[in-house]
Amino acid sequence: MLPETTPQDDGTTPPSAPRRPADGVALRADLRAALPDASAAVMVTVAVFAFLYARMESGDSATVAVMPFMDDPGTYWMYLLSQAFGWSGLLWAWGTVMLGLLLSGPGPAWLPVSRQVLERWHRTTSLTTMALMFAHALMFAAELVRYEAQLTWVERVWVGLADTFVPGWYDSGTGRIAIPIGQGALYLAVPLGLLFYVRHRIGANTWRRLHRFVIVVYVLSVWHTLLYGTNVWYGEWPRTVLWLLQLPVAALLSLRLLRPARRAERLGAPRRREGGSLPGWGVRAVGRVAAGAVLVGLLVVVASGHDGGRERPAEPPATSPHAPEPE
Ligand code: HEM
Repeated sequence: MLPETTPQDDGTTPPSAPRRPADGVALRADLRAALPDASAAVMVTVAVFAFLYARMESGDSATVAVMPFMDDPGTYWMYLLSQAFGWSGLLWAWGTVMLGLLLSGPGPAWLPVSRQVLERWHRTTSLTTMALMFAHALMFAAELVRYEAQLTWVERVWVGLADTFVPGWYDSGTGRIAIPIGQGALYLAVPLGLLFYVRHRIGANTWRRLHRFVIVVYVLSVWHTLLYGTNVWYGEWPRTVLWLLQLPVAALLSLRLLRPARRAERLGAPRRREGGSLPGWGVRAVGRVAAGAVLVGLLVVVASGHDGGRERPAEPPATSPHAPEPE
């Protein structure tokens, strides 16, 4: 979620160049620069929270349709706040991935902002994304601590943290798969994002190669949401919007692979590329075909309406897919 290159990112500093800031200093500066961005994210989270709260109060909530015992926003406000942080986290992840693809793709020459500004936005939005993802998980843990009232405080905190943060610990319903997918996204996002700040130590090429895998974080986040989000559980407009939002990402990813900013990443003919290996060319070619296939697949899903959404039942279900187990 961080820029592929910056003017001083070749891992070396020419003797005449000004000294680059120490890694910790650069991180602190970006954290300060992320404050307006993070404030906007908090405002979006509050707006989503208010919307989800109002829907629960009015009886329209899909979450309550899936889990009827939750029909009380005053009690389950921490769960609603966790959902709201999940949505702002996903929105910010979307934004920072789009910025990253713009920077590493054909170039933002047609945009009214400079490359430096885009890079700064990419860095700050990626820091905000990590914080929002963590807040989403933390509020879920807080809700579990509140919910397990029959246990001692130490047990409650232990259960809440283990169910939330230890892969494989949560053992109820769809969460057995969906929660480890979310954890995978969170646990990959942090190192892949923060490696940017030690790129001079690990080498710019190593950093660049690793940073590419940030797209996996985004895919896991969307997969986790489609699988587990109760507000996109049914085949209604929120699920359609979520699928639609993936179209520009897939289009920009295809474009980024077809017309990468870095000359060395261009495909060219298999044998004529200087110093390029044939297996390497094969991997690049397969990547481009796969990105195109994803784009076509998304178009088919959106056009056909076969998006994995269930039918909202007229009566509440007898069992809930991911309710914490009552005693
Ligand atoms: C430790 C990692 C994670 C845990 C324990 C976790 C937990 C959960 C749970 C329990 C739900 C179901 C809420 C519902 O009833 O809708 C959920 C939904 C969701 N999660 Fe996560 N999650 C994690 C990581 C992530 C990440 C990295 C993202 C990406 C931003 C994310 C975004 C979402 C979204 C957007 C929803 C849908 C909420 C809704 O339907 O209103 N989660 N998550």
